[in-house]
Amino acid sequence: MNKGNRLRQAGYFVFGIFSVFGTLSSCQSQQELKTEQYYVEGLQIYQMNCANCHQENGEGLANLYPAITDSKLFSNEKELARLIKYGTKSNVEDHRPMPANLNLKDLEIAEVITFLKVKWGKDSVYTDTETVIKALEYQQ
Ligand code: HEC
Repeated sequence: MNKGNRLRQAGYFVFGIFSVFGTLSSCQSQQELKTEQYYVEGLQIYQMNCANCHQENGEGLANLYPAITDSKLFSNEKELARLIKYGTKSNVEDHRPMPANLNLKDLEIAEVITFLKVKWGKDSVYTDTETVIKALEYQQ
């Protein structure tokens, strides 16, 4: 192999590396952008539909409504989607059920899940609408 060829090959290699990183980093920022958008929307949905029971800080209200800041459900987005949409049925006497949120759209559920996961679940990637749709189809 002559010097020119070798240089050209090295050039392709470097170009290849940069284009791979270029693509990766633009995917990354797309994802970050979406996570931010969902978080901001999700915060508002939380304030309107959830905070009256679980409170702004997620600490809940005395014995009436549980704190959710340590919820294990944040790592199970499908279960969480079903809980938010359909609520819980509780027949234990001193245990209040959580009401359904049938008015929330799939996108809004994805947004509020994103908010919960990022705020309290130590997650940094949004939940997409498809995941919510799948979770809710499964329920029916
Ligand atoms: C009327 C009060 C009320 C509202 C409004 C409400 N919740 Fe709840 N939530 C509850 C109660 C009560 C429970 C416990 C239910 C159970 O264990 O059967 C609960 C449980 C939960 C849990 C599970 C906590 C755990 O055990 O890990 C999560 C997460 C949650 N709620 C999130 C939400 C979100 C998100 C919203 C808004 C879309 C919301 N809740 C709206 C009362 C409420």
